[in-house]
Amino acid sequence: MDTLTRYHELKQQIHFHNHRYHVLDAPLISDVEYDRLLADLRQLETEHPDWVTSDSPTQRAGAAASGKFEKIRHPRPILSLANAFGAGDARAWFERIRKLDERLATAKFTVEPKIDGLSVVLHYRNGLFVQGATRGDGEVGEDITANLRTVRAIPLKIPVNRAESAQNSPALGQISLFPAQRLSTPSIPSELVLRGEIFITDKDFALLNARLAENGEKTYLNPRNTAAGSLRQLDPAITATRPLTILVYQVVYWVNEKQAGQETALPEPWQSSQWELLGWLKSLGFPVSDAARRFDSLDEAIAYTETWETGRDNLGYEADGMVIKLDNLTLAAELGFVGKDPRGAIAFKFPGREVTTQLLNIEVEVGRTGVLTPKAVLEAVEIGGVVVKNATLHNFDFIAEKDIRIGDRVLVKRAGEVIPYVIGPLLDARSGAEMAYSPPATCPACAQPVEHLADEVAFYCVNAACPAQLIRNLEHFVSRGAMDIVGLGLKIVEQLIAAEQVKDVADLFFLKKEDLLTLEGFAEKKADNLLEAIRAARAQPLARLLAALGVRGVGEVSAKDLAAAFGSLDALSAASADALQTVAGIGPNIAAAIVDWFGRKRNQQVLEKLKQAGVWPTQTQNADLKIPNAPLNGLTFVITGTLPTLSREAAKELIEQNGGKVTESVSKKTSYLLLGEAPGSKYEKALALGVPVLDETALLARITL
Ligand code: IVH
Repeated sequence: MDTLTRYHELKQQIHFHNHRYHVLDAPLISDVEYDRLLADLRQLETEHPDWVTSDSPTQRAGAAASGKFEKIRHPRPILSLANAFGAGDARAWFERIRKLDERLATAKFTVEPKIDGLSVVLHYRNGLFVQGATRGDGEVGEDITANLRTVRAIPLKIPVNRAESAQNSPALGQISLFPAQRLSTPSIPSELVLRGEIFITDKDFALLNARLAENGEKTYLNPRNTAAGSLRQLDPAITATRPLTILVYQVVYWVNEKQAGQETALPEPWQSSQWELLGWLKSLGFPVSDAARRFDSLDEAIAYTETWETGRDNLGYEADGMVIKLDNLTLAAELGFVGKDPRGAIAFKFPGREVTTQLLNIEVEVGRTGVLTPKAVLEAVEIGGVVVKNATLHNFDFIAEKDIRIGDRVLVKRAGEVIPYVIGPLLDARSGAEMAYSPPATCPACAQPVEHLADEVAFYCVNAACPAQLIRNLEHFVSRGAMDIVGLGLKIVEQLIAAEQVKDVADLFFLKKEDLLTLEGFAEKKADNLLEAIRAARAQPLARLLAALGVRGVGEVSAKDLAAAFGSLDALSAASADALQTVAGIGPNIAAAIVDWFGRKRNQQVLEKLKQAGVWPTQTQNADLKIPNAPLNGLTFVITGTLPTLSREAAKELIEQNGGKVTESVSKKTSYLLLGEAPGSKYEKALALGVPVLDETALLARITL
């Protein structure tokens, strides 16, 4: 097979698997296999930069940051919808329009979730994604093409899940990864403009916040604002890190150059039925809602809407209602609109999930890494069938920014599976008796002074002996993903700490049976079982022990990588921040947190005790880290500026594949600075330190020599 054929084939495969993963939610290959295909493609593209086209999967995050967004005039107005609150309103809507056209007597309805996200407009020319815009004022939006390219659920080229035509790529027929059955080629208008909604699923939002919280960073307030902020990032590389997705539901505009003048051509089904339209969009590879249904009567459409009103938490994303649309698009268009609202559809709104209640108190919880988090104690209130007594206040900055006071009436929202959160105070409801709040100066659990770093949002209790921290710490240490000590639940953890039998995690391994027997509820058998479980945990591998120690930013995944790279806690505790950053996924913040953790006296004592107890696993270092004879073995690179063909990510991958390492900051140990267009301060630093500079061509030459 020639290289060009292989290149086209790879591109097709990646588009196909991307669609399986991000649109159909049904991957056929593992992430590792996917990454390998992508790496192969990048390799071919570095060898043949002239082959790269805008629809290549590598082009999703390559663009440089723009200074501002250009304006784009939409080809047709981007309309909004009139609201219906309840079945009565919905029936009244239909009664009104029914009088306007007799054909409505037999109308069908397509019902879809009204996603609480951001409306975007996608332009495809000859099947290629060429432009994307925000809704703006409905007439003119902003050009956010580079950001939308990073959303993997948006096809860069349509149709997605079919092989490219046989002439281009004769070998494609033999690829087993493609479905055996080929769809017949749907005719795609040469110019196709679609509308969809960008959003973040509840699950992805929770994951994103959990990761941020673990690193002591500011968490996001809600999925919609996060999605909105991500779309308006001037640097698409940032957008690319946010878990945005899309559902598409409307054709705004289309032209088919080939069909111009052919009046005999019958309209295709997607042009005249919303239901057919959704099916057609899906066949092209677009994500469409799988909760959409078509009904023969309004009563059925309303009944279906109401099932989602009660089951909205099961949708997996935020929806503020369902849209009931006349299925007949031709008829809907003829009905016209009132103001900006088309007559042919109505938004059936769900009851709001924001309520007001009184903020009785602000409590502070201490997490395992010592992070203090404020929690609202509320006068109990029902929100969408659930009684809410507590809500998150995010962080102390949030309380200050919103000037939230104890005794305030506050607006609280409960959405999906997301923890209820306080939106802000109702300033008009103030009586004057409310009390301003300031973050605690001492830890609520141990009364030791609290630390607040100027560039972080988090407030920390840095007392390693803090009982609240110790409880969370031990709870984490023994948990399933960490040392997995079966039978050691929260209650026993609390007992051990209260009895002062355990003052740090290492003390667990020195527990004696007679100690345990003094605790309430412990008899021979229970004590034996617990000691046996603790004994067994000594054999846990290094990665688990490392994750169990609870170093900020070191979760299960990075613990595995660090264990593979360093092989022992001795090696890790001696590692510099620079050395740590050579491990994939370890950035400057986490590297600093690791160095800080190992540098603390108290932690060193814990490590010493673990060593004495024989809890000191080691593992052989991963041989992959040194690739025999690789051209960049032992070299450390720092990248700055925009490279002519490679994205940062691609450059990093390429360097690593060739035995080199990439770190974030320039030091004397940096072997080379990889220099691109418009470099940052790293360039000056490299010059000052005398670090040699390479450009992309020189790097590629070194690799291919
Ligand atoms: S149809 C003429 N369908 O809801 C078509 N809108 O005011 C009008 N939305 O901002 C829109 N999900 O962005 C439609 N399945 C859906 C929708 C949807 C969310 C948004 C849309 C608009 C608002 C309606």
